[in-house]
Amino acid sequence: MKKIRKAVFPVAGLGTRFLPATKASPKEMLPVVDKPLIQYAVEEALEAGIDQLIFITGRSKRAIADHFDKAYELEAELEKSNKQKMLDIVRSIVPSHVSCIYTRQAEALGLGHAVLCAEPVVGDEPFAVLLADDLIDGNGQACLSQMVDEFNRYQYSVLGVQKVEGADIEKYGVVAVEPLEEHVSRITRIVEKPPLAEAPSDLGVVGRYILTPGIFTEIRNTGRGAGGEIQLTDAIQSLLSKEKVLAHRFSGRRYDCGSKEGYLEATVEYALKHPELKDSFRAYLKSLKL
Ligand code: G1P
Repeated sequence: MKKIRKAVFPVAGLGTRFLPATKASPKEMLPVVDKPLIQYAVEEALEAGIDQLIFITGRSKRAIADHFDKAYELEAELEKSNKQKMLDIVRSIVPSHVSCIYTRQAEALGLGHAVLCAEPVVGDEPFAVLLADDLIDGNGQACLSQMVDEFNRYQYSVLGVQKVEGADIEKYGVVAVEPLEEHVSRITRIVEKPPLAEAPSDLGVVGRYILTPGIFTEIRNTGRGAGGEIQLTDAIQSLLSKEKVLAHRFSGRRYDCGSKEGYLEATVEYALKHPELKDSFRAYLKSLKL
């Protein structure tokens, strides 16, 4: 049985929707309360048992590598001033058995192309892809971990999906499915960002994928699709003629932190769950009498 040990984080995107905040710093470093988005995604991967983190980076993304690197000066300062709790937080970001690998996507040619950049590191094994701007609060079990359970049972590629209301479906990869079990179905078709009238269902793909290495050949043979980009969705559609691909309706709540609205919702809700903030922040929100 194959195990999922590697996770790919495509982080080369420009983050134009958050300008000017993302002019000089990566959108994946935007914090939700006190952790950057990319750290939530990494923690989700670690919870799913992954021990190789592969970042597909681009220009202006150095902060991500710095965040997951050892910070000698900061650690020395915290040690000197006896801030043990902070020191533990900083040191535990990446456990010692986990390795981080960085590779550059020189041109922003799309998500499919970003995933293809990981091929030399991933090799011939199944792997996960996490898009950090989809922040997912799993219901007791992280979304990727739920999907790894499905992969372990079926050994097929698995995509995280959720029901999407109305015209919002046009922002997603959309799947047509045949039901298998309560939360799992088999994908029969997948389309990137279809117009509402052509959407094959109301099930949108969220930024969580478990893919077999067969996807690399399909990406190589995929031309430019929606938005003139090499789409992962189109490569998955080609993969369907060779392998089964499953859709997993995860349990939990997803925040679209690629949009300002979703990012603000995540910030408010994570603050309301944060052990040090929840009481005072709730009281503050109540005091607003909106
Ligand atoms: C990407 C994928 C899309 C998926 C979405 C989830 O789109 O191309 O299929 O539904 O992520 O967030 P993007 O949001 O990067 O345009």
